[in-house]
Amino acid sequence: MILEICSGIKIREIIESDKHAIVRYANNKKIYNNLRDAFPFPYTFEDAENWLTLLNENIPKRAFAIANNEELIGVIGIETCRDVNRLSGELGYWLGEPFWGKGIATHAVQNFIRYAFDYYNITKIFANVFSSNPASSRVLLKSGFKLEGCMRKQIVKNGQALDQFVYGLLKDEIPGLVFKSP
Ligand SMILES: CC(C)(COP(=O)(O)OP(=O)(O)OC[C@H]1O[C@@H](n2cnc3c(N)ncnc32)[C@H](O)[C@@H]1OP(=O)(O)O)[C@@H](O)C(=O)NCCC(=O)NCCS
Repeated sequence: MILEICSGIKIREIIESDKHAIVRYANNKKIYNNLRDAFPFPYTFEDAENWLTLLNENIPKRAFAIANNEELIGVIGIETCRDVNRLSGELGYWLGEPFWGKGIATHAVQNFIRYAFDYYNITKIFANVFSSNPASSRVLLKSGFKLEGCMRKQIVKNGQALDQFVYGLLKDEIPGLVFKSP
C-alpha cells in the first residue's frame, strides 16, 4: 500500500530496514509524553525489533510508515475494536520531532482515514488525546474529527493525573474534509 499524502511524503508499509529510523525518531521523551506507557522511553533497537515482530504477526497490518523519500519519519495506524465496538477503530500516530509543525501529521491523518474506513471495514474512527497535547487535538479537528468527550483524570502519565479527550469521526462525515496544500 502506498498513499501519496503531500509533496515528498507518503504512507507506506513498514519494512525491516525502518528499524533504524524508528529508533532515531521514537527515542524522544516529547513523543513518549504523549503516548501510552507501552511506547517505551528510552526507545531501543530491541524495542523496535520486538514491535516489528508483533506488527508482522497482525493481519491485516495495523500500522504504516509516514515516510519521506529517504526514510520513515513517523508511524500511523489503527487498532480495531472488538465485540459490540467492532465497527470502530482507534487511530494512533507519531511523527519525528524534526518534522513537526509542517502540516505532515494532518495530511497523514486526512489521507489515512479515507483508506482505513475501507481497508478495516469500520464505520467510526476515534482517537484518545491527553489534555496536555493540544497539537494532536488540532490535527484531529483539522481532519474533521469532533470532540466527543472529556474523560476526567482518566490517565496517569509521568506520575500526573490528566484528562483525556475523545475525538471521533464517522465514515459518512468524511466528504466535507478540506485538503490544504503543504
Ligand atoms: C501531534 C503530532 C503528530 C503533530 O504533528 P505535526 O505534523 O506537527 O502536526 P501539524 O503540523 O499537522 O498540525 C499541528 C497543529 O497543532 C498546532 N499546535 C502545535 N503546538 C501547539 C500548542 N502547544 N498549542 C496549540 N496548538 C498547537 C499547530 O499550530 C498546528 O495547527 P495549525 O495548522 O492550525 O497552526 C506530533 O507533534 C507528535 O508526533 N507528537 C508526539 C506524539 C503524539 O502526540 N501523537 C498523538 C497522540 S494522540
